[in-house]
Amino acid sequence: MALLTGAAAAIKGELMGFGGAAAHLFVREGAKVVLTDIRDDLGERSAAALRADGHDARYMRLDVTSEKNWVQVVDAVMAAHGRFDILFNNAGISFPMKVEDMTVEIWDRELAVHAKGVFLGTKTAIPAMRKGGGGSIVNTSSVMGLVGSPTSPAYSAAKGAIAIFTKSAALQYAKENIRIDSVHPGYADTPLTSQRFNDPTVRQVLLDRTPMGRLGTAKDIANGVLFLASDESSWVTGSELVIDGGMTAQ
Ligand SMILES: NC(=O)c1ccc[n+]([C@@H]2O[C@H](COP(=O)([O-])OP(=O)(O)OC[C@H]3O[C@@H](n4cnc5c(N)ncnc54)[C@H](O)[C@@H]3O)[C@@H](O)[C@H]2O)c1
Repeated sequence: MALLTGAAAAIKGELMGFGGAAAHLFVREGAKVVLTDIRDDLGERSAAALRADGHDARYMRLDVTSEKNWVQVVDAVMAAHGRFDILFNNAGISFPMKVEDMTVEIWDRELAVHAKGVFLGTKTAIPAMRKGGGGSIVNTSSVMGLVGSPTSPAYSAAKGAIAIFTKSAALQYAKENIRIDSVHPGYADTPLTSQRFNDPTVRQVLLDRTPMGRLGTAKDIANGVLFLASDESSWVTGSELVIDGGMTAQ
């Protein structure tokens, strides 16, 4: 059983996010998936479409900043499935702005959804994974969690927090066969970025920063997530998987 956060956009033929694309790869491997998000209509439609294709999928509302909501959802998953193998901590937001323009509210929101969300998911999932003898947690950081962001310092700070939290948690649970890794996407077309990245001037700047000369797709990222979630990566923990068309190699 795999639970994915920020995974409402998972409808074939529509623009998917990393969560949605990962859900499609997970079900292809035979996993049961629980899509979660705060966009309930889209999440319900995505889960229904997966079921219509013969997969075991359901949608549950999960605001990753709420510990109470995490406990409810993990309890419900354990009641329904009896095990918890994979957690993809992927929900995210983005408010590009200069430091001087940033309000404390926006700073707190970036840290809450990304850093606190990943912490709460990890904290809640671990006892459930332990019951099944182990599991894999994949946390969506960003290239902006590795290098500075010219547009979004709070986002970068929050994604950096995810990267180093991931390594620390990986050390604590390695002996229990609970692996915890981070994935670091570069610029990719998803529902989160479509409006900004479709501006031709912005797009050209991003292309210029990306040596491979194209932006990423949700599937480019999901392929890496699948590897980290699967037994193929059974000796990998605390690692940072960069999928960025070469952006951070320069
Ligand atoms: N697209 C990119 O270029 C890019 C690059 C690096 C990292 N990322 C990260 O990838 C992750 C997935 O984003 P995406 O680009 O696939 O876009 P996406 O819009 O498909 O996914 C983000 C989802 O998070 C959900 N969300 C926001 N706040 C939430 C909350 N409090 N609780 C639960 N869900 C919440 C949104 O409703 C949305 O569905 C995010 O963490 C994002 O920061 C994206």
